[in-house]
Amino acid sequence: MVEWVRLELDVGGFDDAAFEPYLEQAREAGITFTTMAVLGDSAQHHRALYELNKACSADIPERGEFYTYDAYIAERIEVPSFDPAGVVLATHDEAWIGMSSSSLHPGKGYAVSEMTGVLAPYRGRGLSLALKLLAIRFVRAAGYRRLVTIHHPRNASAIAMNRRLGFADRTD
Ligand SMILES: CC(C)(COP(=O)(O)OP(=O)(O)OC[C@H]1O[C@@H](n2cnc3c(N)ncnc32)[C@H](O)[C@@H]1OP(=O)(O)O)[C@@H](O)C(=O)NCCC(=O)NCCS
Repeated sequence: MVEWVRLELDVGGFDDAAFEPYLEQAREAGITFTTMAVLGDSAQHHRALYELNKACSADIPERGEFYTYDAYIAERIEVPSFDPAGVVLATHDEAWIGMSSSSLHPGKGYAVSEMTGVLAPYRGRGLSLALKLLAIRFVRAAGYRRLVTIHHPRNASAIAMNRRLGFADRTD
């Protein structure tokens, strides 16, 4: 049986200033940060998000086959918790190169960090930290204190990324 790694961040206690340099550094390298809400919650952008998510998810251990496009739309976009403002994107030369999506769950009292991914050529330079800083700001601005996520135990880079941001083991 897989022992999933369940993590959570106290958004109220998150230290933005410690991660702002990653945002600055990426901007200086010509990377732009935006959201699906700003770019437009359109069919064309849903397709681009699908392609980016699919490319990044290929490196998640034990992920298995990715959704078909129709299934992705039905299960990840056309759901009540999808919020285009919660889809943070990194672009370079107009190509989408990174994402961090979060969903809000008022009934449960927490937000979920759904998927963070960076295309392979852009990894290892703090881009995920910049994306998650913006995702955490979205969650905080929506009034949430808890941001939770779950990883396969073999996804060492994702677990390390979240621990680096201050995520700790979930206790509930
Ligand atoms: C996980 C992922 C988003 C990290 O993106 P990235 O931009 O390369 O990560 P960063 O350069 O911002 O690194 C942030 C921290 O993550 C950890 N990390 C990143 N890559 C790592 C690796 N290969 N091994 C171990 N730790 C790693 C480190 O703690 C790092 O901080 P540090 O360099 O200060 O020690 C990227 O590897 C990816 O897209 N993986 C495939 C998709 C995935 O598994 N997503 C998570 C599931 S939602």
